[in-house]
Amino acid sequence: MAKHTVVTMPGDGIGNQVLPQALRILKAVGFNAEYIHADIGWECWCKEGNALPQRTVDLLAKHKLGLFGAITSKPKKEAEAELTPELKGKGYSYFSPIVTMRQRFHLDTCIRPCISFPGNPLNFIRKKINGGFEEPFVNVVVFRQNTEGLYAGVEWTNPPEPVRSALATHAKFKPFTSVPGPDLAISVRIITRNAARKICEAAFEWAKKYGYKSVTICEKPNVLRETSGMMEEEARSVAREYRGIALWSTNIDAQTMWLTKNPEDYGVIVASNLFGDVISDAFAGLIGGLGFAASGNIGDEVAVFEPTHGSAPKYAELDPPIVNPIAMFLSAVMMLEHVGEAGKARRIGEAIAAVVKEGKVRTYDMMRIPGGPNAIRQGAASTIKMTDAILGKLKTAGELAYAGTQRSSV
Ligand code: NAI
Ligand code: MG
Repeated sequence: MAKHTVVTMPGDGIGNQVLPQALRILKAVGFNAEYIHADIGWECWCKEGNALPQRTVDLLAKHKLGLFGAITSKPKKEAEAELTPELKGKGYSYFSPIVTMRQRFHLDTCIRPCISFPGNPLNFIRKKINGGFEEPFVNVVVFRQNTEGLYAGVEWTNPPEPVRSALATHAKFKPFTSVPGPDLAISVRIITRNAARKICEAAFEWAKKYGYKSVTICEKPNVLRETSGMMEEEARSVAREYRGIALWSTNIDAQTMWLTKNPEDYGVIVASNLFGDVISDAFAGLIGGLGFAASGNIGDEVAVFEPTHGSAPKYAELDPPIVNPIAMFLSAVMMLEHVGEAGKARRIGEAIAAVVKEGKVRTYDMMRIPGGPNAIRQGAASTIKMTDAILGKLKTAGELAYAGTQRSSV
């Protein structure tokens, strides 16, 4: 019997191209697992009125470990238009299956490592004062609260009367009282102390485990006094339990400036949902962008690993596929680390590092050329060729230091 069972959810578009390649890599390192396919995404919405069918929820509840590709989502009106005729007008509304999954399984900790691979032509470089360029080594892991904040989903256009009356009890709502309902949209930013504490604890635990010297709480407490204020308060309280790890505090706006001035200064960053989403994408841009950005959604029982990128529909039909599978592979690496297979994770990380450093095999994004049918003719590696190159290096793994998600020098 296999030691692990993984629920595989390729989803839509390029999710179907990169996830099967990750399974080849996992097999090559001898990960002892059984894979169970589960449906998720746009087709489920169109045919069933639910992008996250109950059968998929049941599989995740049972096996507790998921590997996910990407999904397509579309605005409300388009979503309704693409619903199968039998379901139209029956009150179905589209919800993002990822957000639903995170909330349903309390996957409240999102981990997004942004760590440069030496030799990656997409790495951030900076001009030196006296001429020339330097390439700061980025080694950041973003901890994003994954279930609350502005993504909690509590929002209205034309809020019902009890909501308006409740808001009217706040002095700052006065200028809005006369706005007609259809012209008033409200999204509520909800932070609970327990969740704030939990994400801060997870960030500090990671810093302690992997030797980071600082944890930065990235919020906006001078303006969002209550919600960001509570995040800060909990970060300060948790920090007291971790002597030797400095707590830094930055505002989200300033942080997006500082990250290109001195990205090498940062280690672990912790933030609420929207700010964590923003800052992790910003840091990912410094280490190669969507082709390199992996993530883990971790709950007390269930964990799901996924690349940060979406379904890239414009490349989904290309044959051979051209997208970079490394983000997907790094998500599989995170999954291996999560289930205690650090050795296998390291082997994959080393193989990726070797291919990137060698620079002979590069997908179109790594060559900075447009994606599309001509990419391969211009010398770009296909998704499969990149996978083959990494598989090839697995045989000689161990030669290069791993530049994956666990690095101790900051
Ligand atoms: P996207 O991430 O799918 O693609 C944006 C662009 O980034 C692509 O056109 C491509 O140029 C590049 N790209 C993405 N992944 C790449 C890879 N692995 N290798 C090389 N290049 C890559 O985002 P977009 O176009 O905004 O959204 C497309 C669909 O994906 C939408 O329906 C959106 O809602 C959905 N989406 C889903 C996400 C998820 O499943 N987690 C996240 C983001 C978007
Ligand atoms: Mg994002």
